[in-house]
Amino acid sequence: MLPRHFFIVISLSFLVQSLPKVHLTLVNRKHSFYVVNLQDASIESSDNSSSEAENLTTSKPVTDNLSVVNITEHNDHDPTVSATSLSLEAGKNFTRSLMCYYNIPRLNDRPYAVFPEALNVSLCTHLVVCCAKVVNLTLQPNDLNDIQFYSRIVRLKQVNPKLKILLSLESINDDTGQSFVQMISTNSTRQRFLQSAINTLNQHGFDGIEVSWRFPCFEGPIEQRQLFVDFLHEFRDYINSNHNGSSMLLTAAVSARKEIIDIAYHDIPALARYLDYISLMSYDYHKFAWDTPLLGPNSPLFHMKNEIAMLRTLNVQWSANYWYQNGMPASKIIVGIPSYGRSYTLMNRKNHDYYDLAKGLGVTGDKGYVTFPEICEFLMRPNVTKVYNNVTAELYAYEGAEWISFENEQSSKAKASWILRSGFGGVALKDLNSDDAYRQCTKPNRTGPHISFPIARAIYESLYS
Ligand SMILES: *[C@@H]1O[C@H](CO)[C@@H](O)[C@H](O)[C@H]1NC(C)=O
Ligand SMILES: *[C@@H]1O[C@H](CO)[C@@H](O)[C@H](O)[C@H]1NC(C)=O
Ligand SMILES: *[C@@H]1O[C@H](CO)[C@@H](O)[C@H](O)[C@H]1NC(C)=O
Ligand SMILES: *[C@@H]1O[C@H](CO)[C@@H](O)[C@H](O)[C@H]1NC(C)=O
Ligand SMILES: *[C@@H]1O[C@H](CO)[C@@H](O)[C@H](O)[C@H]1NC(C)=O
Ligand SMILES: *[C@@H]1O[C@H](CO)[C@@H](O)[C@H](O)[C@H]1NC(C)=O
Ligand SMILES: *[C@@H]1O[C@H](CO)[C@@H](O)[C@H](O)[C@H]1NC(C)=O
Ligand SMILES: *[C@@H]1O[C@H](CO)[C@@H](O)[C@H](O)[C@H]1NC(C)=O
Ligand SMILES: *[C@@H]1O[C@H](CO)[C@@H](O)[C@H](O)[C@H]1NC(C)=O
Ligand SMILES: *[C@@H]1O[C@H](CO)[C@@H](O)[C@H](O)[C@H]1NC(C)=O
Ligand SMILES: *[C@@H]1O[C@H](CO)[C@@H](O)[C@H](O)[C@H]1NC(C)=O
Ligand SMILES: *[C@@H]1O[C@H](CO)[C@@H](O)[C@H](O)[C@H]1NC(C)=O
Repeated sequence: MLPRHFFIVISLSFLVQSLPKVHLTLVNRKHSFYVVNLQDASIESSDNSSSEAENLTTSKPVTDNLSVVNITEHNDHDPTVSATSLSLEAGKNFTRSLMCYYNIPRLNDRPYAVFPEALNVSLCTHLVVCCAKVVNLTLQPNDLNDIQFYSRIVRLKQVNPKLKILLSLESINDDTGQSFVQMISTNSTRQRFLQSAINTLNQHGFDGIEVSWRFPCFEGPIEQRQLFVDFLHEFRDYINSNHNGSSMLLTAAVSARKEIIDIAYHDIPALARYLDYISLMSYDYHKFAWDTPLLGPNSPLFHMKNEIAMLRTLNVQWSANYWYQNGMPASKIIVGIPSYGRSYTLMNRKNHDYYDLAKGLGVTGDKGYVTFPEICEFLMRPNVTKVYNNVTAELYAYEGAEWISFENEQSSKAKASWILRSGFGGVALKDLNSDDAYRQCTKPNRTGPHISFPIARAIYESLYS
């Protein structure tokens, strides 16, 4: 069983000591430990009484408006590793998938709702619609209004007749958090659910389902991982026997983190037999948390040279290779690229590099989750500094105490072309709702046709041209 804080415990002693040089001790649950040396992390006072903090800020080297810096690192990682180990797969000729995630809009969406008709589904091979849940052993929409959207979404096949539309089944959205777990726990409850689910999917014209269980064995018994395999096995059998062959797609959204993979997915070859694809959640590797108050890239492609031991696993390359090495065919691994970013508040405005200290979530976005238009607006502020790092294939930008890790066309192109070169099955773009309004940002107009999906387009161009 994974305890809730299974990941990292950090000594917080630095919070009470203003050390010129801070040493953090990271301790994982197996009691191995890692040390990160943070250079010159003088602490910016977090209360208002100190004008020292303000003086620190003004003494910061002044950057003229938007300054763009490209960081290049000579590091010891070998970007060709996966290309080599996967060369057989890479030689195969198959069409990569671009799975676009789409959240049915809500009235309170930031900065505004993105309706189905606004999507450019010509960019996508699959549309994964979020989300449905288990209620009383049946598949139910998260919100009753969603059903009106189902027909509008399925109608998008008129624009792209090859588009496959999947409904995403989330374990964490049900009312008690237990409906999914109850459903999956016995053969008879699974069978009842499967009948209902297939009927519902057919009735609305969906081409398949994505199962997003976060995660087997997470606060549950270790037996759950076998229940997951049984469920997918029975789902596959049910599709084959009741759906005129295997036209219905069955996929799963899976963790990218070693400590979860090792516990939740013990039989990856079985998952490979029953699933058409896995959608690798290769994002949120770093975000602000009180027990890890460090700046980091949301979805780094490769590890950086100062990342050792467990930190070396927190990147897209490592996760995708790990699934492959444990028995998932590369062509079934759909690698996640986020279109959203993560914001932080700097502890000290002078220290804005990866692994520098943060003192909280950023002001931008919703609890640190920043959509592309919000990033776009942030970048238009005077005095923003934007940094591209070609090892993480990510950017960060900062102004004052605000620091945001994010993607743009350049970074997502770099990732998509690595995914293509390495022989993986394609890209899961998480998600289209965030990747919008590029033009709206540069030319604010909240009513006009403003949606251009810059990141989806960049990935599309990398995969197909
Ligand atoms: C700091 O300033 C904010 C608003 O300006 C105020 O609400 C808060 O109470 C102040 N905190 C302290 C410690 O003075
Ligand atoms: C901050 O800078 C101002 C102007 O340079 C100076 O008068 C003030 O003493 C400084 N405050 C501190 C705490 O250093
Ligand atoms: C740079 O910033 C200054 C001060 O905010 C502003 O007046 C100026 O127009 C900006 N220059 C450009 C090119 O954006
Ligand atoms: C940063 O890299 C990009 C892409 O390689 C390039 O277009 C841009 O000119 C570079 N910027 C600087 C300041 O070197
Ligand atoms: C891949 O297959 C398609 C259709 O069979 C063919 O047109 C194309 O030339 C092939 N490409 C390569 C690189 O083999
Ligand atoms: C959708 O994207 C495709 C591929 O980039 C492009 O050819 C097409 O014009 C776009 N459609 C709309 C309505 O923007
Ligand atoms: C759940 O389904 C059973 C069997 O169809 C039914 O008797 C029961 O009333 C349902 N409960 C709820 C809360 O819908
Ligand atoms: C569950 O029931 C189905 C249908 O009766 C059967 O095919 C399957 O093998 C059973 N699964 C398990 C794990 O017992
Ligand atoms: C299989 O397809 C045929 C023809 O499309 C249809 O009549 C039949 O109902 C389908 N069977 C099932 C079990 O869906
Ligand atoms: C931007 O920097 C200039 C100095 O280069 C400064 O005069 C100006 O106040 C800054 N603008 C903002 C909004 O911080
Ligand atoms: C990053 O840029 C440097 C210098 O241009 C280059 O040597 C290195 O191979 C690049 N790394 C990656 C991962 O692209
Ligand atoms: C916003 O877009 C609409 C529709 O294209 C257009 O009619 C309107 O003039 C635009 N408004 C502005 C301020 O550009």
